[in-house]
Order: sequence, then structure tokens, then C-alpha cells
Amino acid sequence: MNTEKCDILIIGSGIAGLSFALEVADVAKIVVATKKGRADSATNYAQGGIAAAIGDDDSIASHIEDTIKTGDGFCREDVVNLVATEGPLKIRRLIEWGAAFSEELTGKLSLGREGGHTHHRIVHKADHTGKEVEKALLDQVRNHPNIELIEDAICVDLITDRHTSPSTRPEYKTCYGGYVFNPQTKKIDLIEAKITLMASGGMGRIWLNTTNPMIATGDGVAMSWRAGARIANLEFMQFHPTVLYDPLKAGSQSFLITEALRGFGGILRNQRGERFMEKIHPMAELAPRDVVARAIDNERKRWGIDHVWLDISHQSADEIRNRFPTIYQRLLEDHEIDMTVSPIPVVPAAHYQCGGVMTDTWGRTTICNLYAAGEVAYTGLHGANRLASNSLLEAVVFASRAAESARERLKELSGTNNDAIPPWDDSGTYDPEEWVLIAHDLGEIQKLMEDYVGIVRSDLRLRRAKRRISLITGEIEDYWRRTVVSPELVELRNIAQVARLVVRYALLRKESRGLHYTTDYPQKDTFYEKRDTVFQ
Ligand code: SIN
Repeated sequence: MNTEKCDILIIGSGIAGLSFALEVADVAKIVVATKKGRADSATNYAQGGIAAAIGDDDSIASHIEDTIKTGDGFCREDVVNLVATEGPLKIRRLIEWGAAFSEELTGKLSLGREGGHTHHRIVHKADHTGKEVEKALLDQVRNHPNIELIEDAICVDLITDRHTSPSTRPEYKTCYGGYVFNPQTKKIDLIEAKITLMASGGMGRIWLNTTNPMIATGDGVAMSWRAGARIANLEFMQFHPTVLYDPLKAGSQSFLITEALRGFGGILRNQRGERFMEKIHPMAELAPRDVVARAIDNERKRWGIDHVWLDISHQSADEIRNRFPTIYQRLLEDHEIDMTVSPIPVVPAAHYQCGGVMTDTWGRTTICNLYAAGEVAYTGLHGANRLASNSLLEAVVFASRAAESARERLKELSGTNNDAIPPWDDSGTYDPEEWVLIAHDLGEIQKLMEDYVGIVRSDLRLRRAKRRISLITGEIEDYWRRTVVSPELVELRNIAQVARLVVRYALLRKESRGLHYTTDYPQKDTFYEKRDTVFQ
């Protein structure tokens, strides 16, 4: 086993982890541990963009209003205020770091529009904004002498007092870094850090169909949960209304058809060619995502169809190719769909977790010296439903605030050291080489979540999911105790634990609000109005 000491350990290399690193690297020695390649993050796949009120006819107040309305009365208004207010500054910071966003001929930033927004305010780079941001940040990180980025290094567990002094009560727990898989030795290294930032992304892969990359296995929530952090509102999982319908790809990453396409005039039609969103919401195709996803789900059930159609063919072909080059190419080359003349078959898929590890407005979790930012965190911004393109914004705003807080904290912690941290204990484990168990358990959980814990829920389905996932989780825990740690097993265990948590959270909310819709309680209930669902 190797031991490494640093000031800050960052888990994850998306926009939150990398921008935090850049904001604090002048005063700290940083290790970024990322579980696959450096660019394997959800950030890299973000098509739409980053919302910020910078248009001439726009205002911070309007961005705040749209966020709160979409969040269905559940956003923390102080958080919405600060994120919308700091947004334009953070866009400038990303540009300074090298992100080249699309511009109009006038030289002003080109602003797209997406669901729930009353104004054009989505800063973007054509339809591959995330890739542009990730590339700019990685270029900066690569050139920084204080930042070491290690790839294929999945963090297995956070190190807390349960390793150093197990009787410590949860509310007094401190984080001392992480146990991290070393891809060269296949052993678990100890990375001791004064401060740890959890920026590991989301949990989309606990569902069968998701826009998320393979890395999104809920590791951050699972690790923080095991460490004793407070976790909130996991019942609010956002399903993106439009991913490409491709039955041959079930279980792998679905191809997102950005909401910006609807902002560009895209129309949703059922199999009769009828436009259905106009009857459902005054904003039609640009209604908030929960409304659009449920409407599509309803059309599918009503007509017994596998998908609906998204049609943009009435717009100029040149403009479509120019604004959506990635989607245009991919559809044409891989699926023989020319979106300038034909509609695109689309379905909803799991996309974004609105709950997560609870933080304050400085990104601090309930565990001392553990911060969280990005999709893994619950800051209170998104409420019961995230407004489109508020996620990269939240990540960069909170990473920056967390960095500011971490700089101060490091001064207080200078000189501290913890020699009581034990090495990873793998006694009594062996390699049974029964990979079929992992594949089977994973498939079963994903199918259960898809069928029973999807866009429309009921107590009956949730209870059934609870029973079955509990059984699988028990088997996995048993397997875990006997088996040499591998990245696949770490992910499976995290997926099972987080799936179980999501069901538990969903069962507690006996109302329908935002992304959580249950046929047993189809209305909002004032009892739950400002109540986060929280476990520790
Ligand atoms: C999209 O481009 O539709 C996704 C952007 C987001 O999730 O905010």
C-alpha cells in the first residue's frame, strides 16, 4: 500500500472538481483522483450550456423567478439568489480560463433558450458546451505545478473517524482523505488530505436508460452516506424528456437530444403526428422538464407506443447544421436520420439528481473538512426540479465558494497531521472471479429502478422495488466482505446502496411535487412544502 499526503484531495474531474482545483491551487498541494480517464465526466457530455442572465432584455430577477417556479416551491431562495447573481461573473471566469463560447456576428455571446426559461440566457458552444469547458479546464490543470491528476483511481471510501476512532458521534465526524484504488498495483492506497472535495457527479446509471456516462454510479452519495454525511431529497431525479430512442442501446449511455433544440423551435408529436404539449402547458415544448417528460410518458402509455417524435425540420437546414453540428452528424452517420428533413424518435431518460450530499452556501457538508460540489451536492438551488442549464452554473459557483472557504480552513489546519489512519484492511478477502454475479445484479437493479422508480411512481411499485433491492443489496454486502476490491465491485456496491436510498426517500414523500410524481398522492401537500427529506 502507498500513502500520499496532500492538502486537498478532489474526487472527480468534472467542472466542479477542476474549477475548485484552479481556484485554490496557488495555496495548496492538490491531488485530483478521477475514476476513469480525465475527461470522463458528465460535464464533457453537456450539450445545452450554462444559464446566466446576461442578455440585454434579461435580468437576475427573471432568472431567479424561473428557477424558483421550475423548482416547484422547493428551492432555497437565498441559494437561488446567490447563484443567479454570481452567474455572469463565473461565465467571465470560464472565458478567462479559455472556454470559447459561441458568439453572434456582433461579437456578443450567443444565447440559447431551454425549457422553463422566459428569456434567451443559455451560454453555449454550439451543441457541445461541456466538451469546450472540460477541455479549457483540463488545459489549465495540466499546466499547474500544484495539481496532480491521477486517472483510473476510483475512491473506495472516505477516511473518517470511523477508521481512526470508531466511537465518534456522526455530528463530530471529520474527513481525512480517501482510500483510493491504485490501477498499477491493484491495491488500495491511502491519500491523506486536510480537506476533501466530493465532486464525483451523479447517479444516472442506477436506471437502465440514462443520458449519463458510465461513471455516474452514485459513488459520492454512497461514500458520503457511509461516512455519515447528511443526504437530502434523493426522490427528485430528473428525467430528460428527449434522448434518442434506440432499443439496441438499452443499458448503455443514451444519446441526448438537447433541450436547446426545442428552444430552437423543435416540436413534439405523437405517432399520429399531433402536437400534444400545447394542450398541457402554456410554455408547450418549453415547459419545465418534469412536465414534458410526464407528458411523453403519458402519450406512450395512452397509445401503446415506444417513443414520440421531435421535429425541427421546419427550420432552415443550414441553421440546424450550424447550431447542432454534433447531433446532426451523429444522427446521420450512426442512425441514417437527417434531422433537417425527418423527425427524431425520442424518449425520456434518467438525467440529473436534484438531491444529494447536503451543503451550506460554502459547499461544506455536515462532516468536518469534507466539501461537496456539482451534481453530487444538494445546495438547495434546484428544489424539486432543476431548471435547464442551471447545473454547470451551480457547479462553478459552488466550487468557487467552496474554494474560498477551503483557503481559510487550510490556514486553521496548517501543521495538523493524523498518524492514526490505518491502512486499508483487505484481510480475509480473495478473488472469486465470479463476474457474472456483478453483471447480473447490476442489470436487475437497473431494470427495477426503470420499471418501478421512474417518472410515474406508486407505493405498490416502490415497495416492490424496496423488497427486491434490499435482497440484492444484502447479497452484494456479503460478496463485498469476502472479495478483493475491484473498481467494478466498488461501483456495484455504490449503485445498490444508492438505489436503495432513492426508494427509501421516494416512499417518504406522500405527495407529488416537481420530479416526484406518485399516482397514490397526485397532488402537492402543504405538509411537505418546505420539508427536505433528510437521512444521515
Ligand atoms: C440539454 O442540453 O438539454 C441538457 C442540459 C441540462 O441538463 O441542463
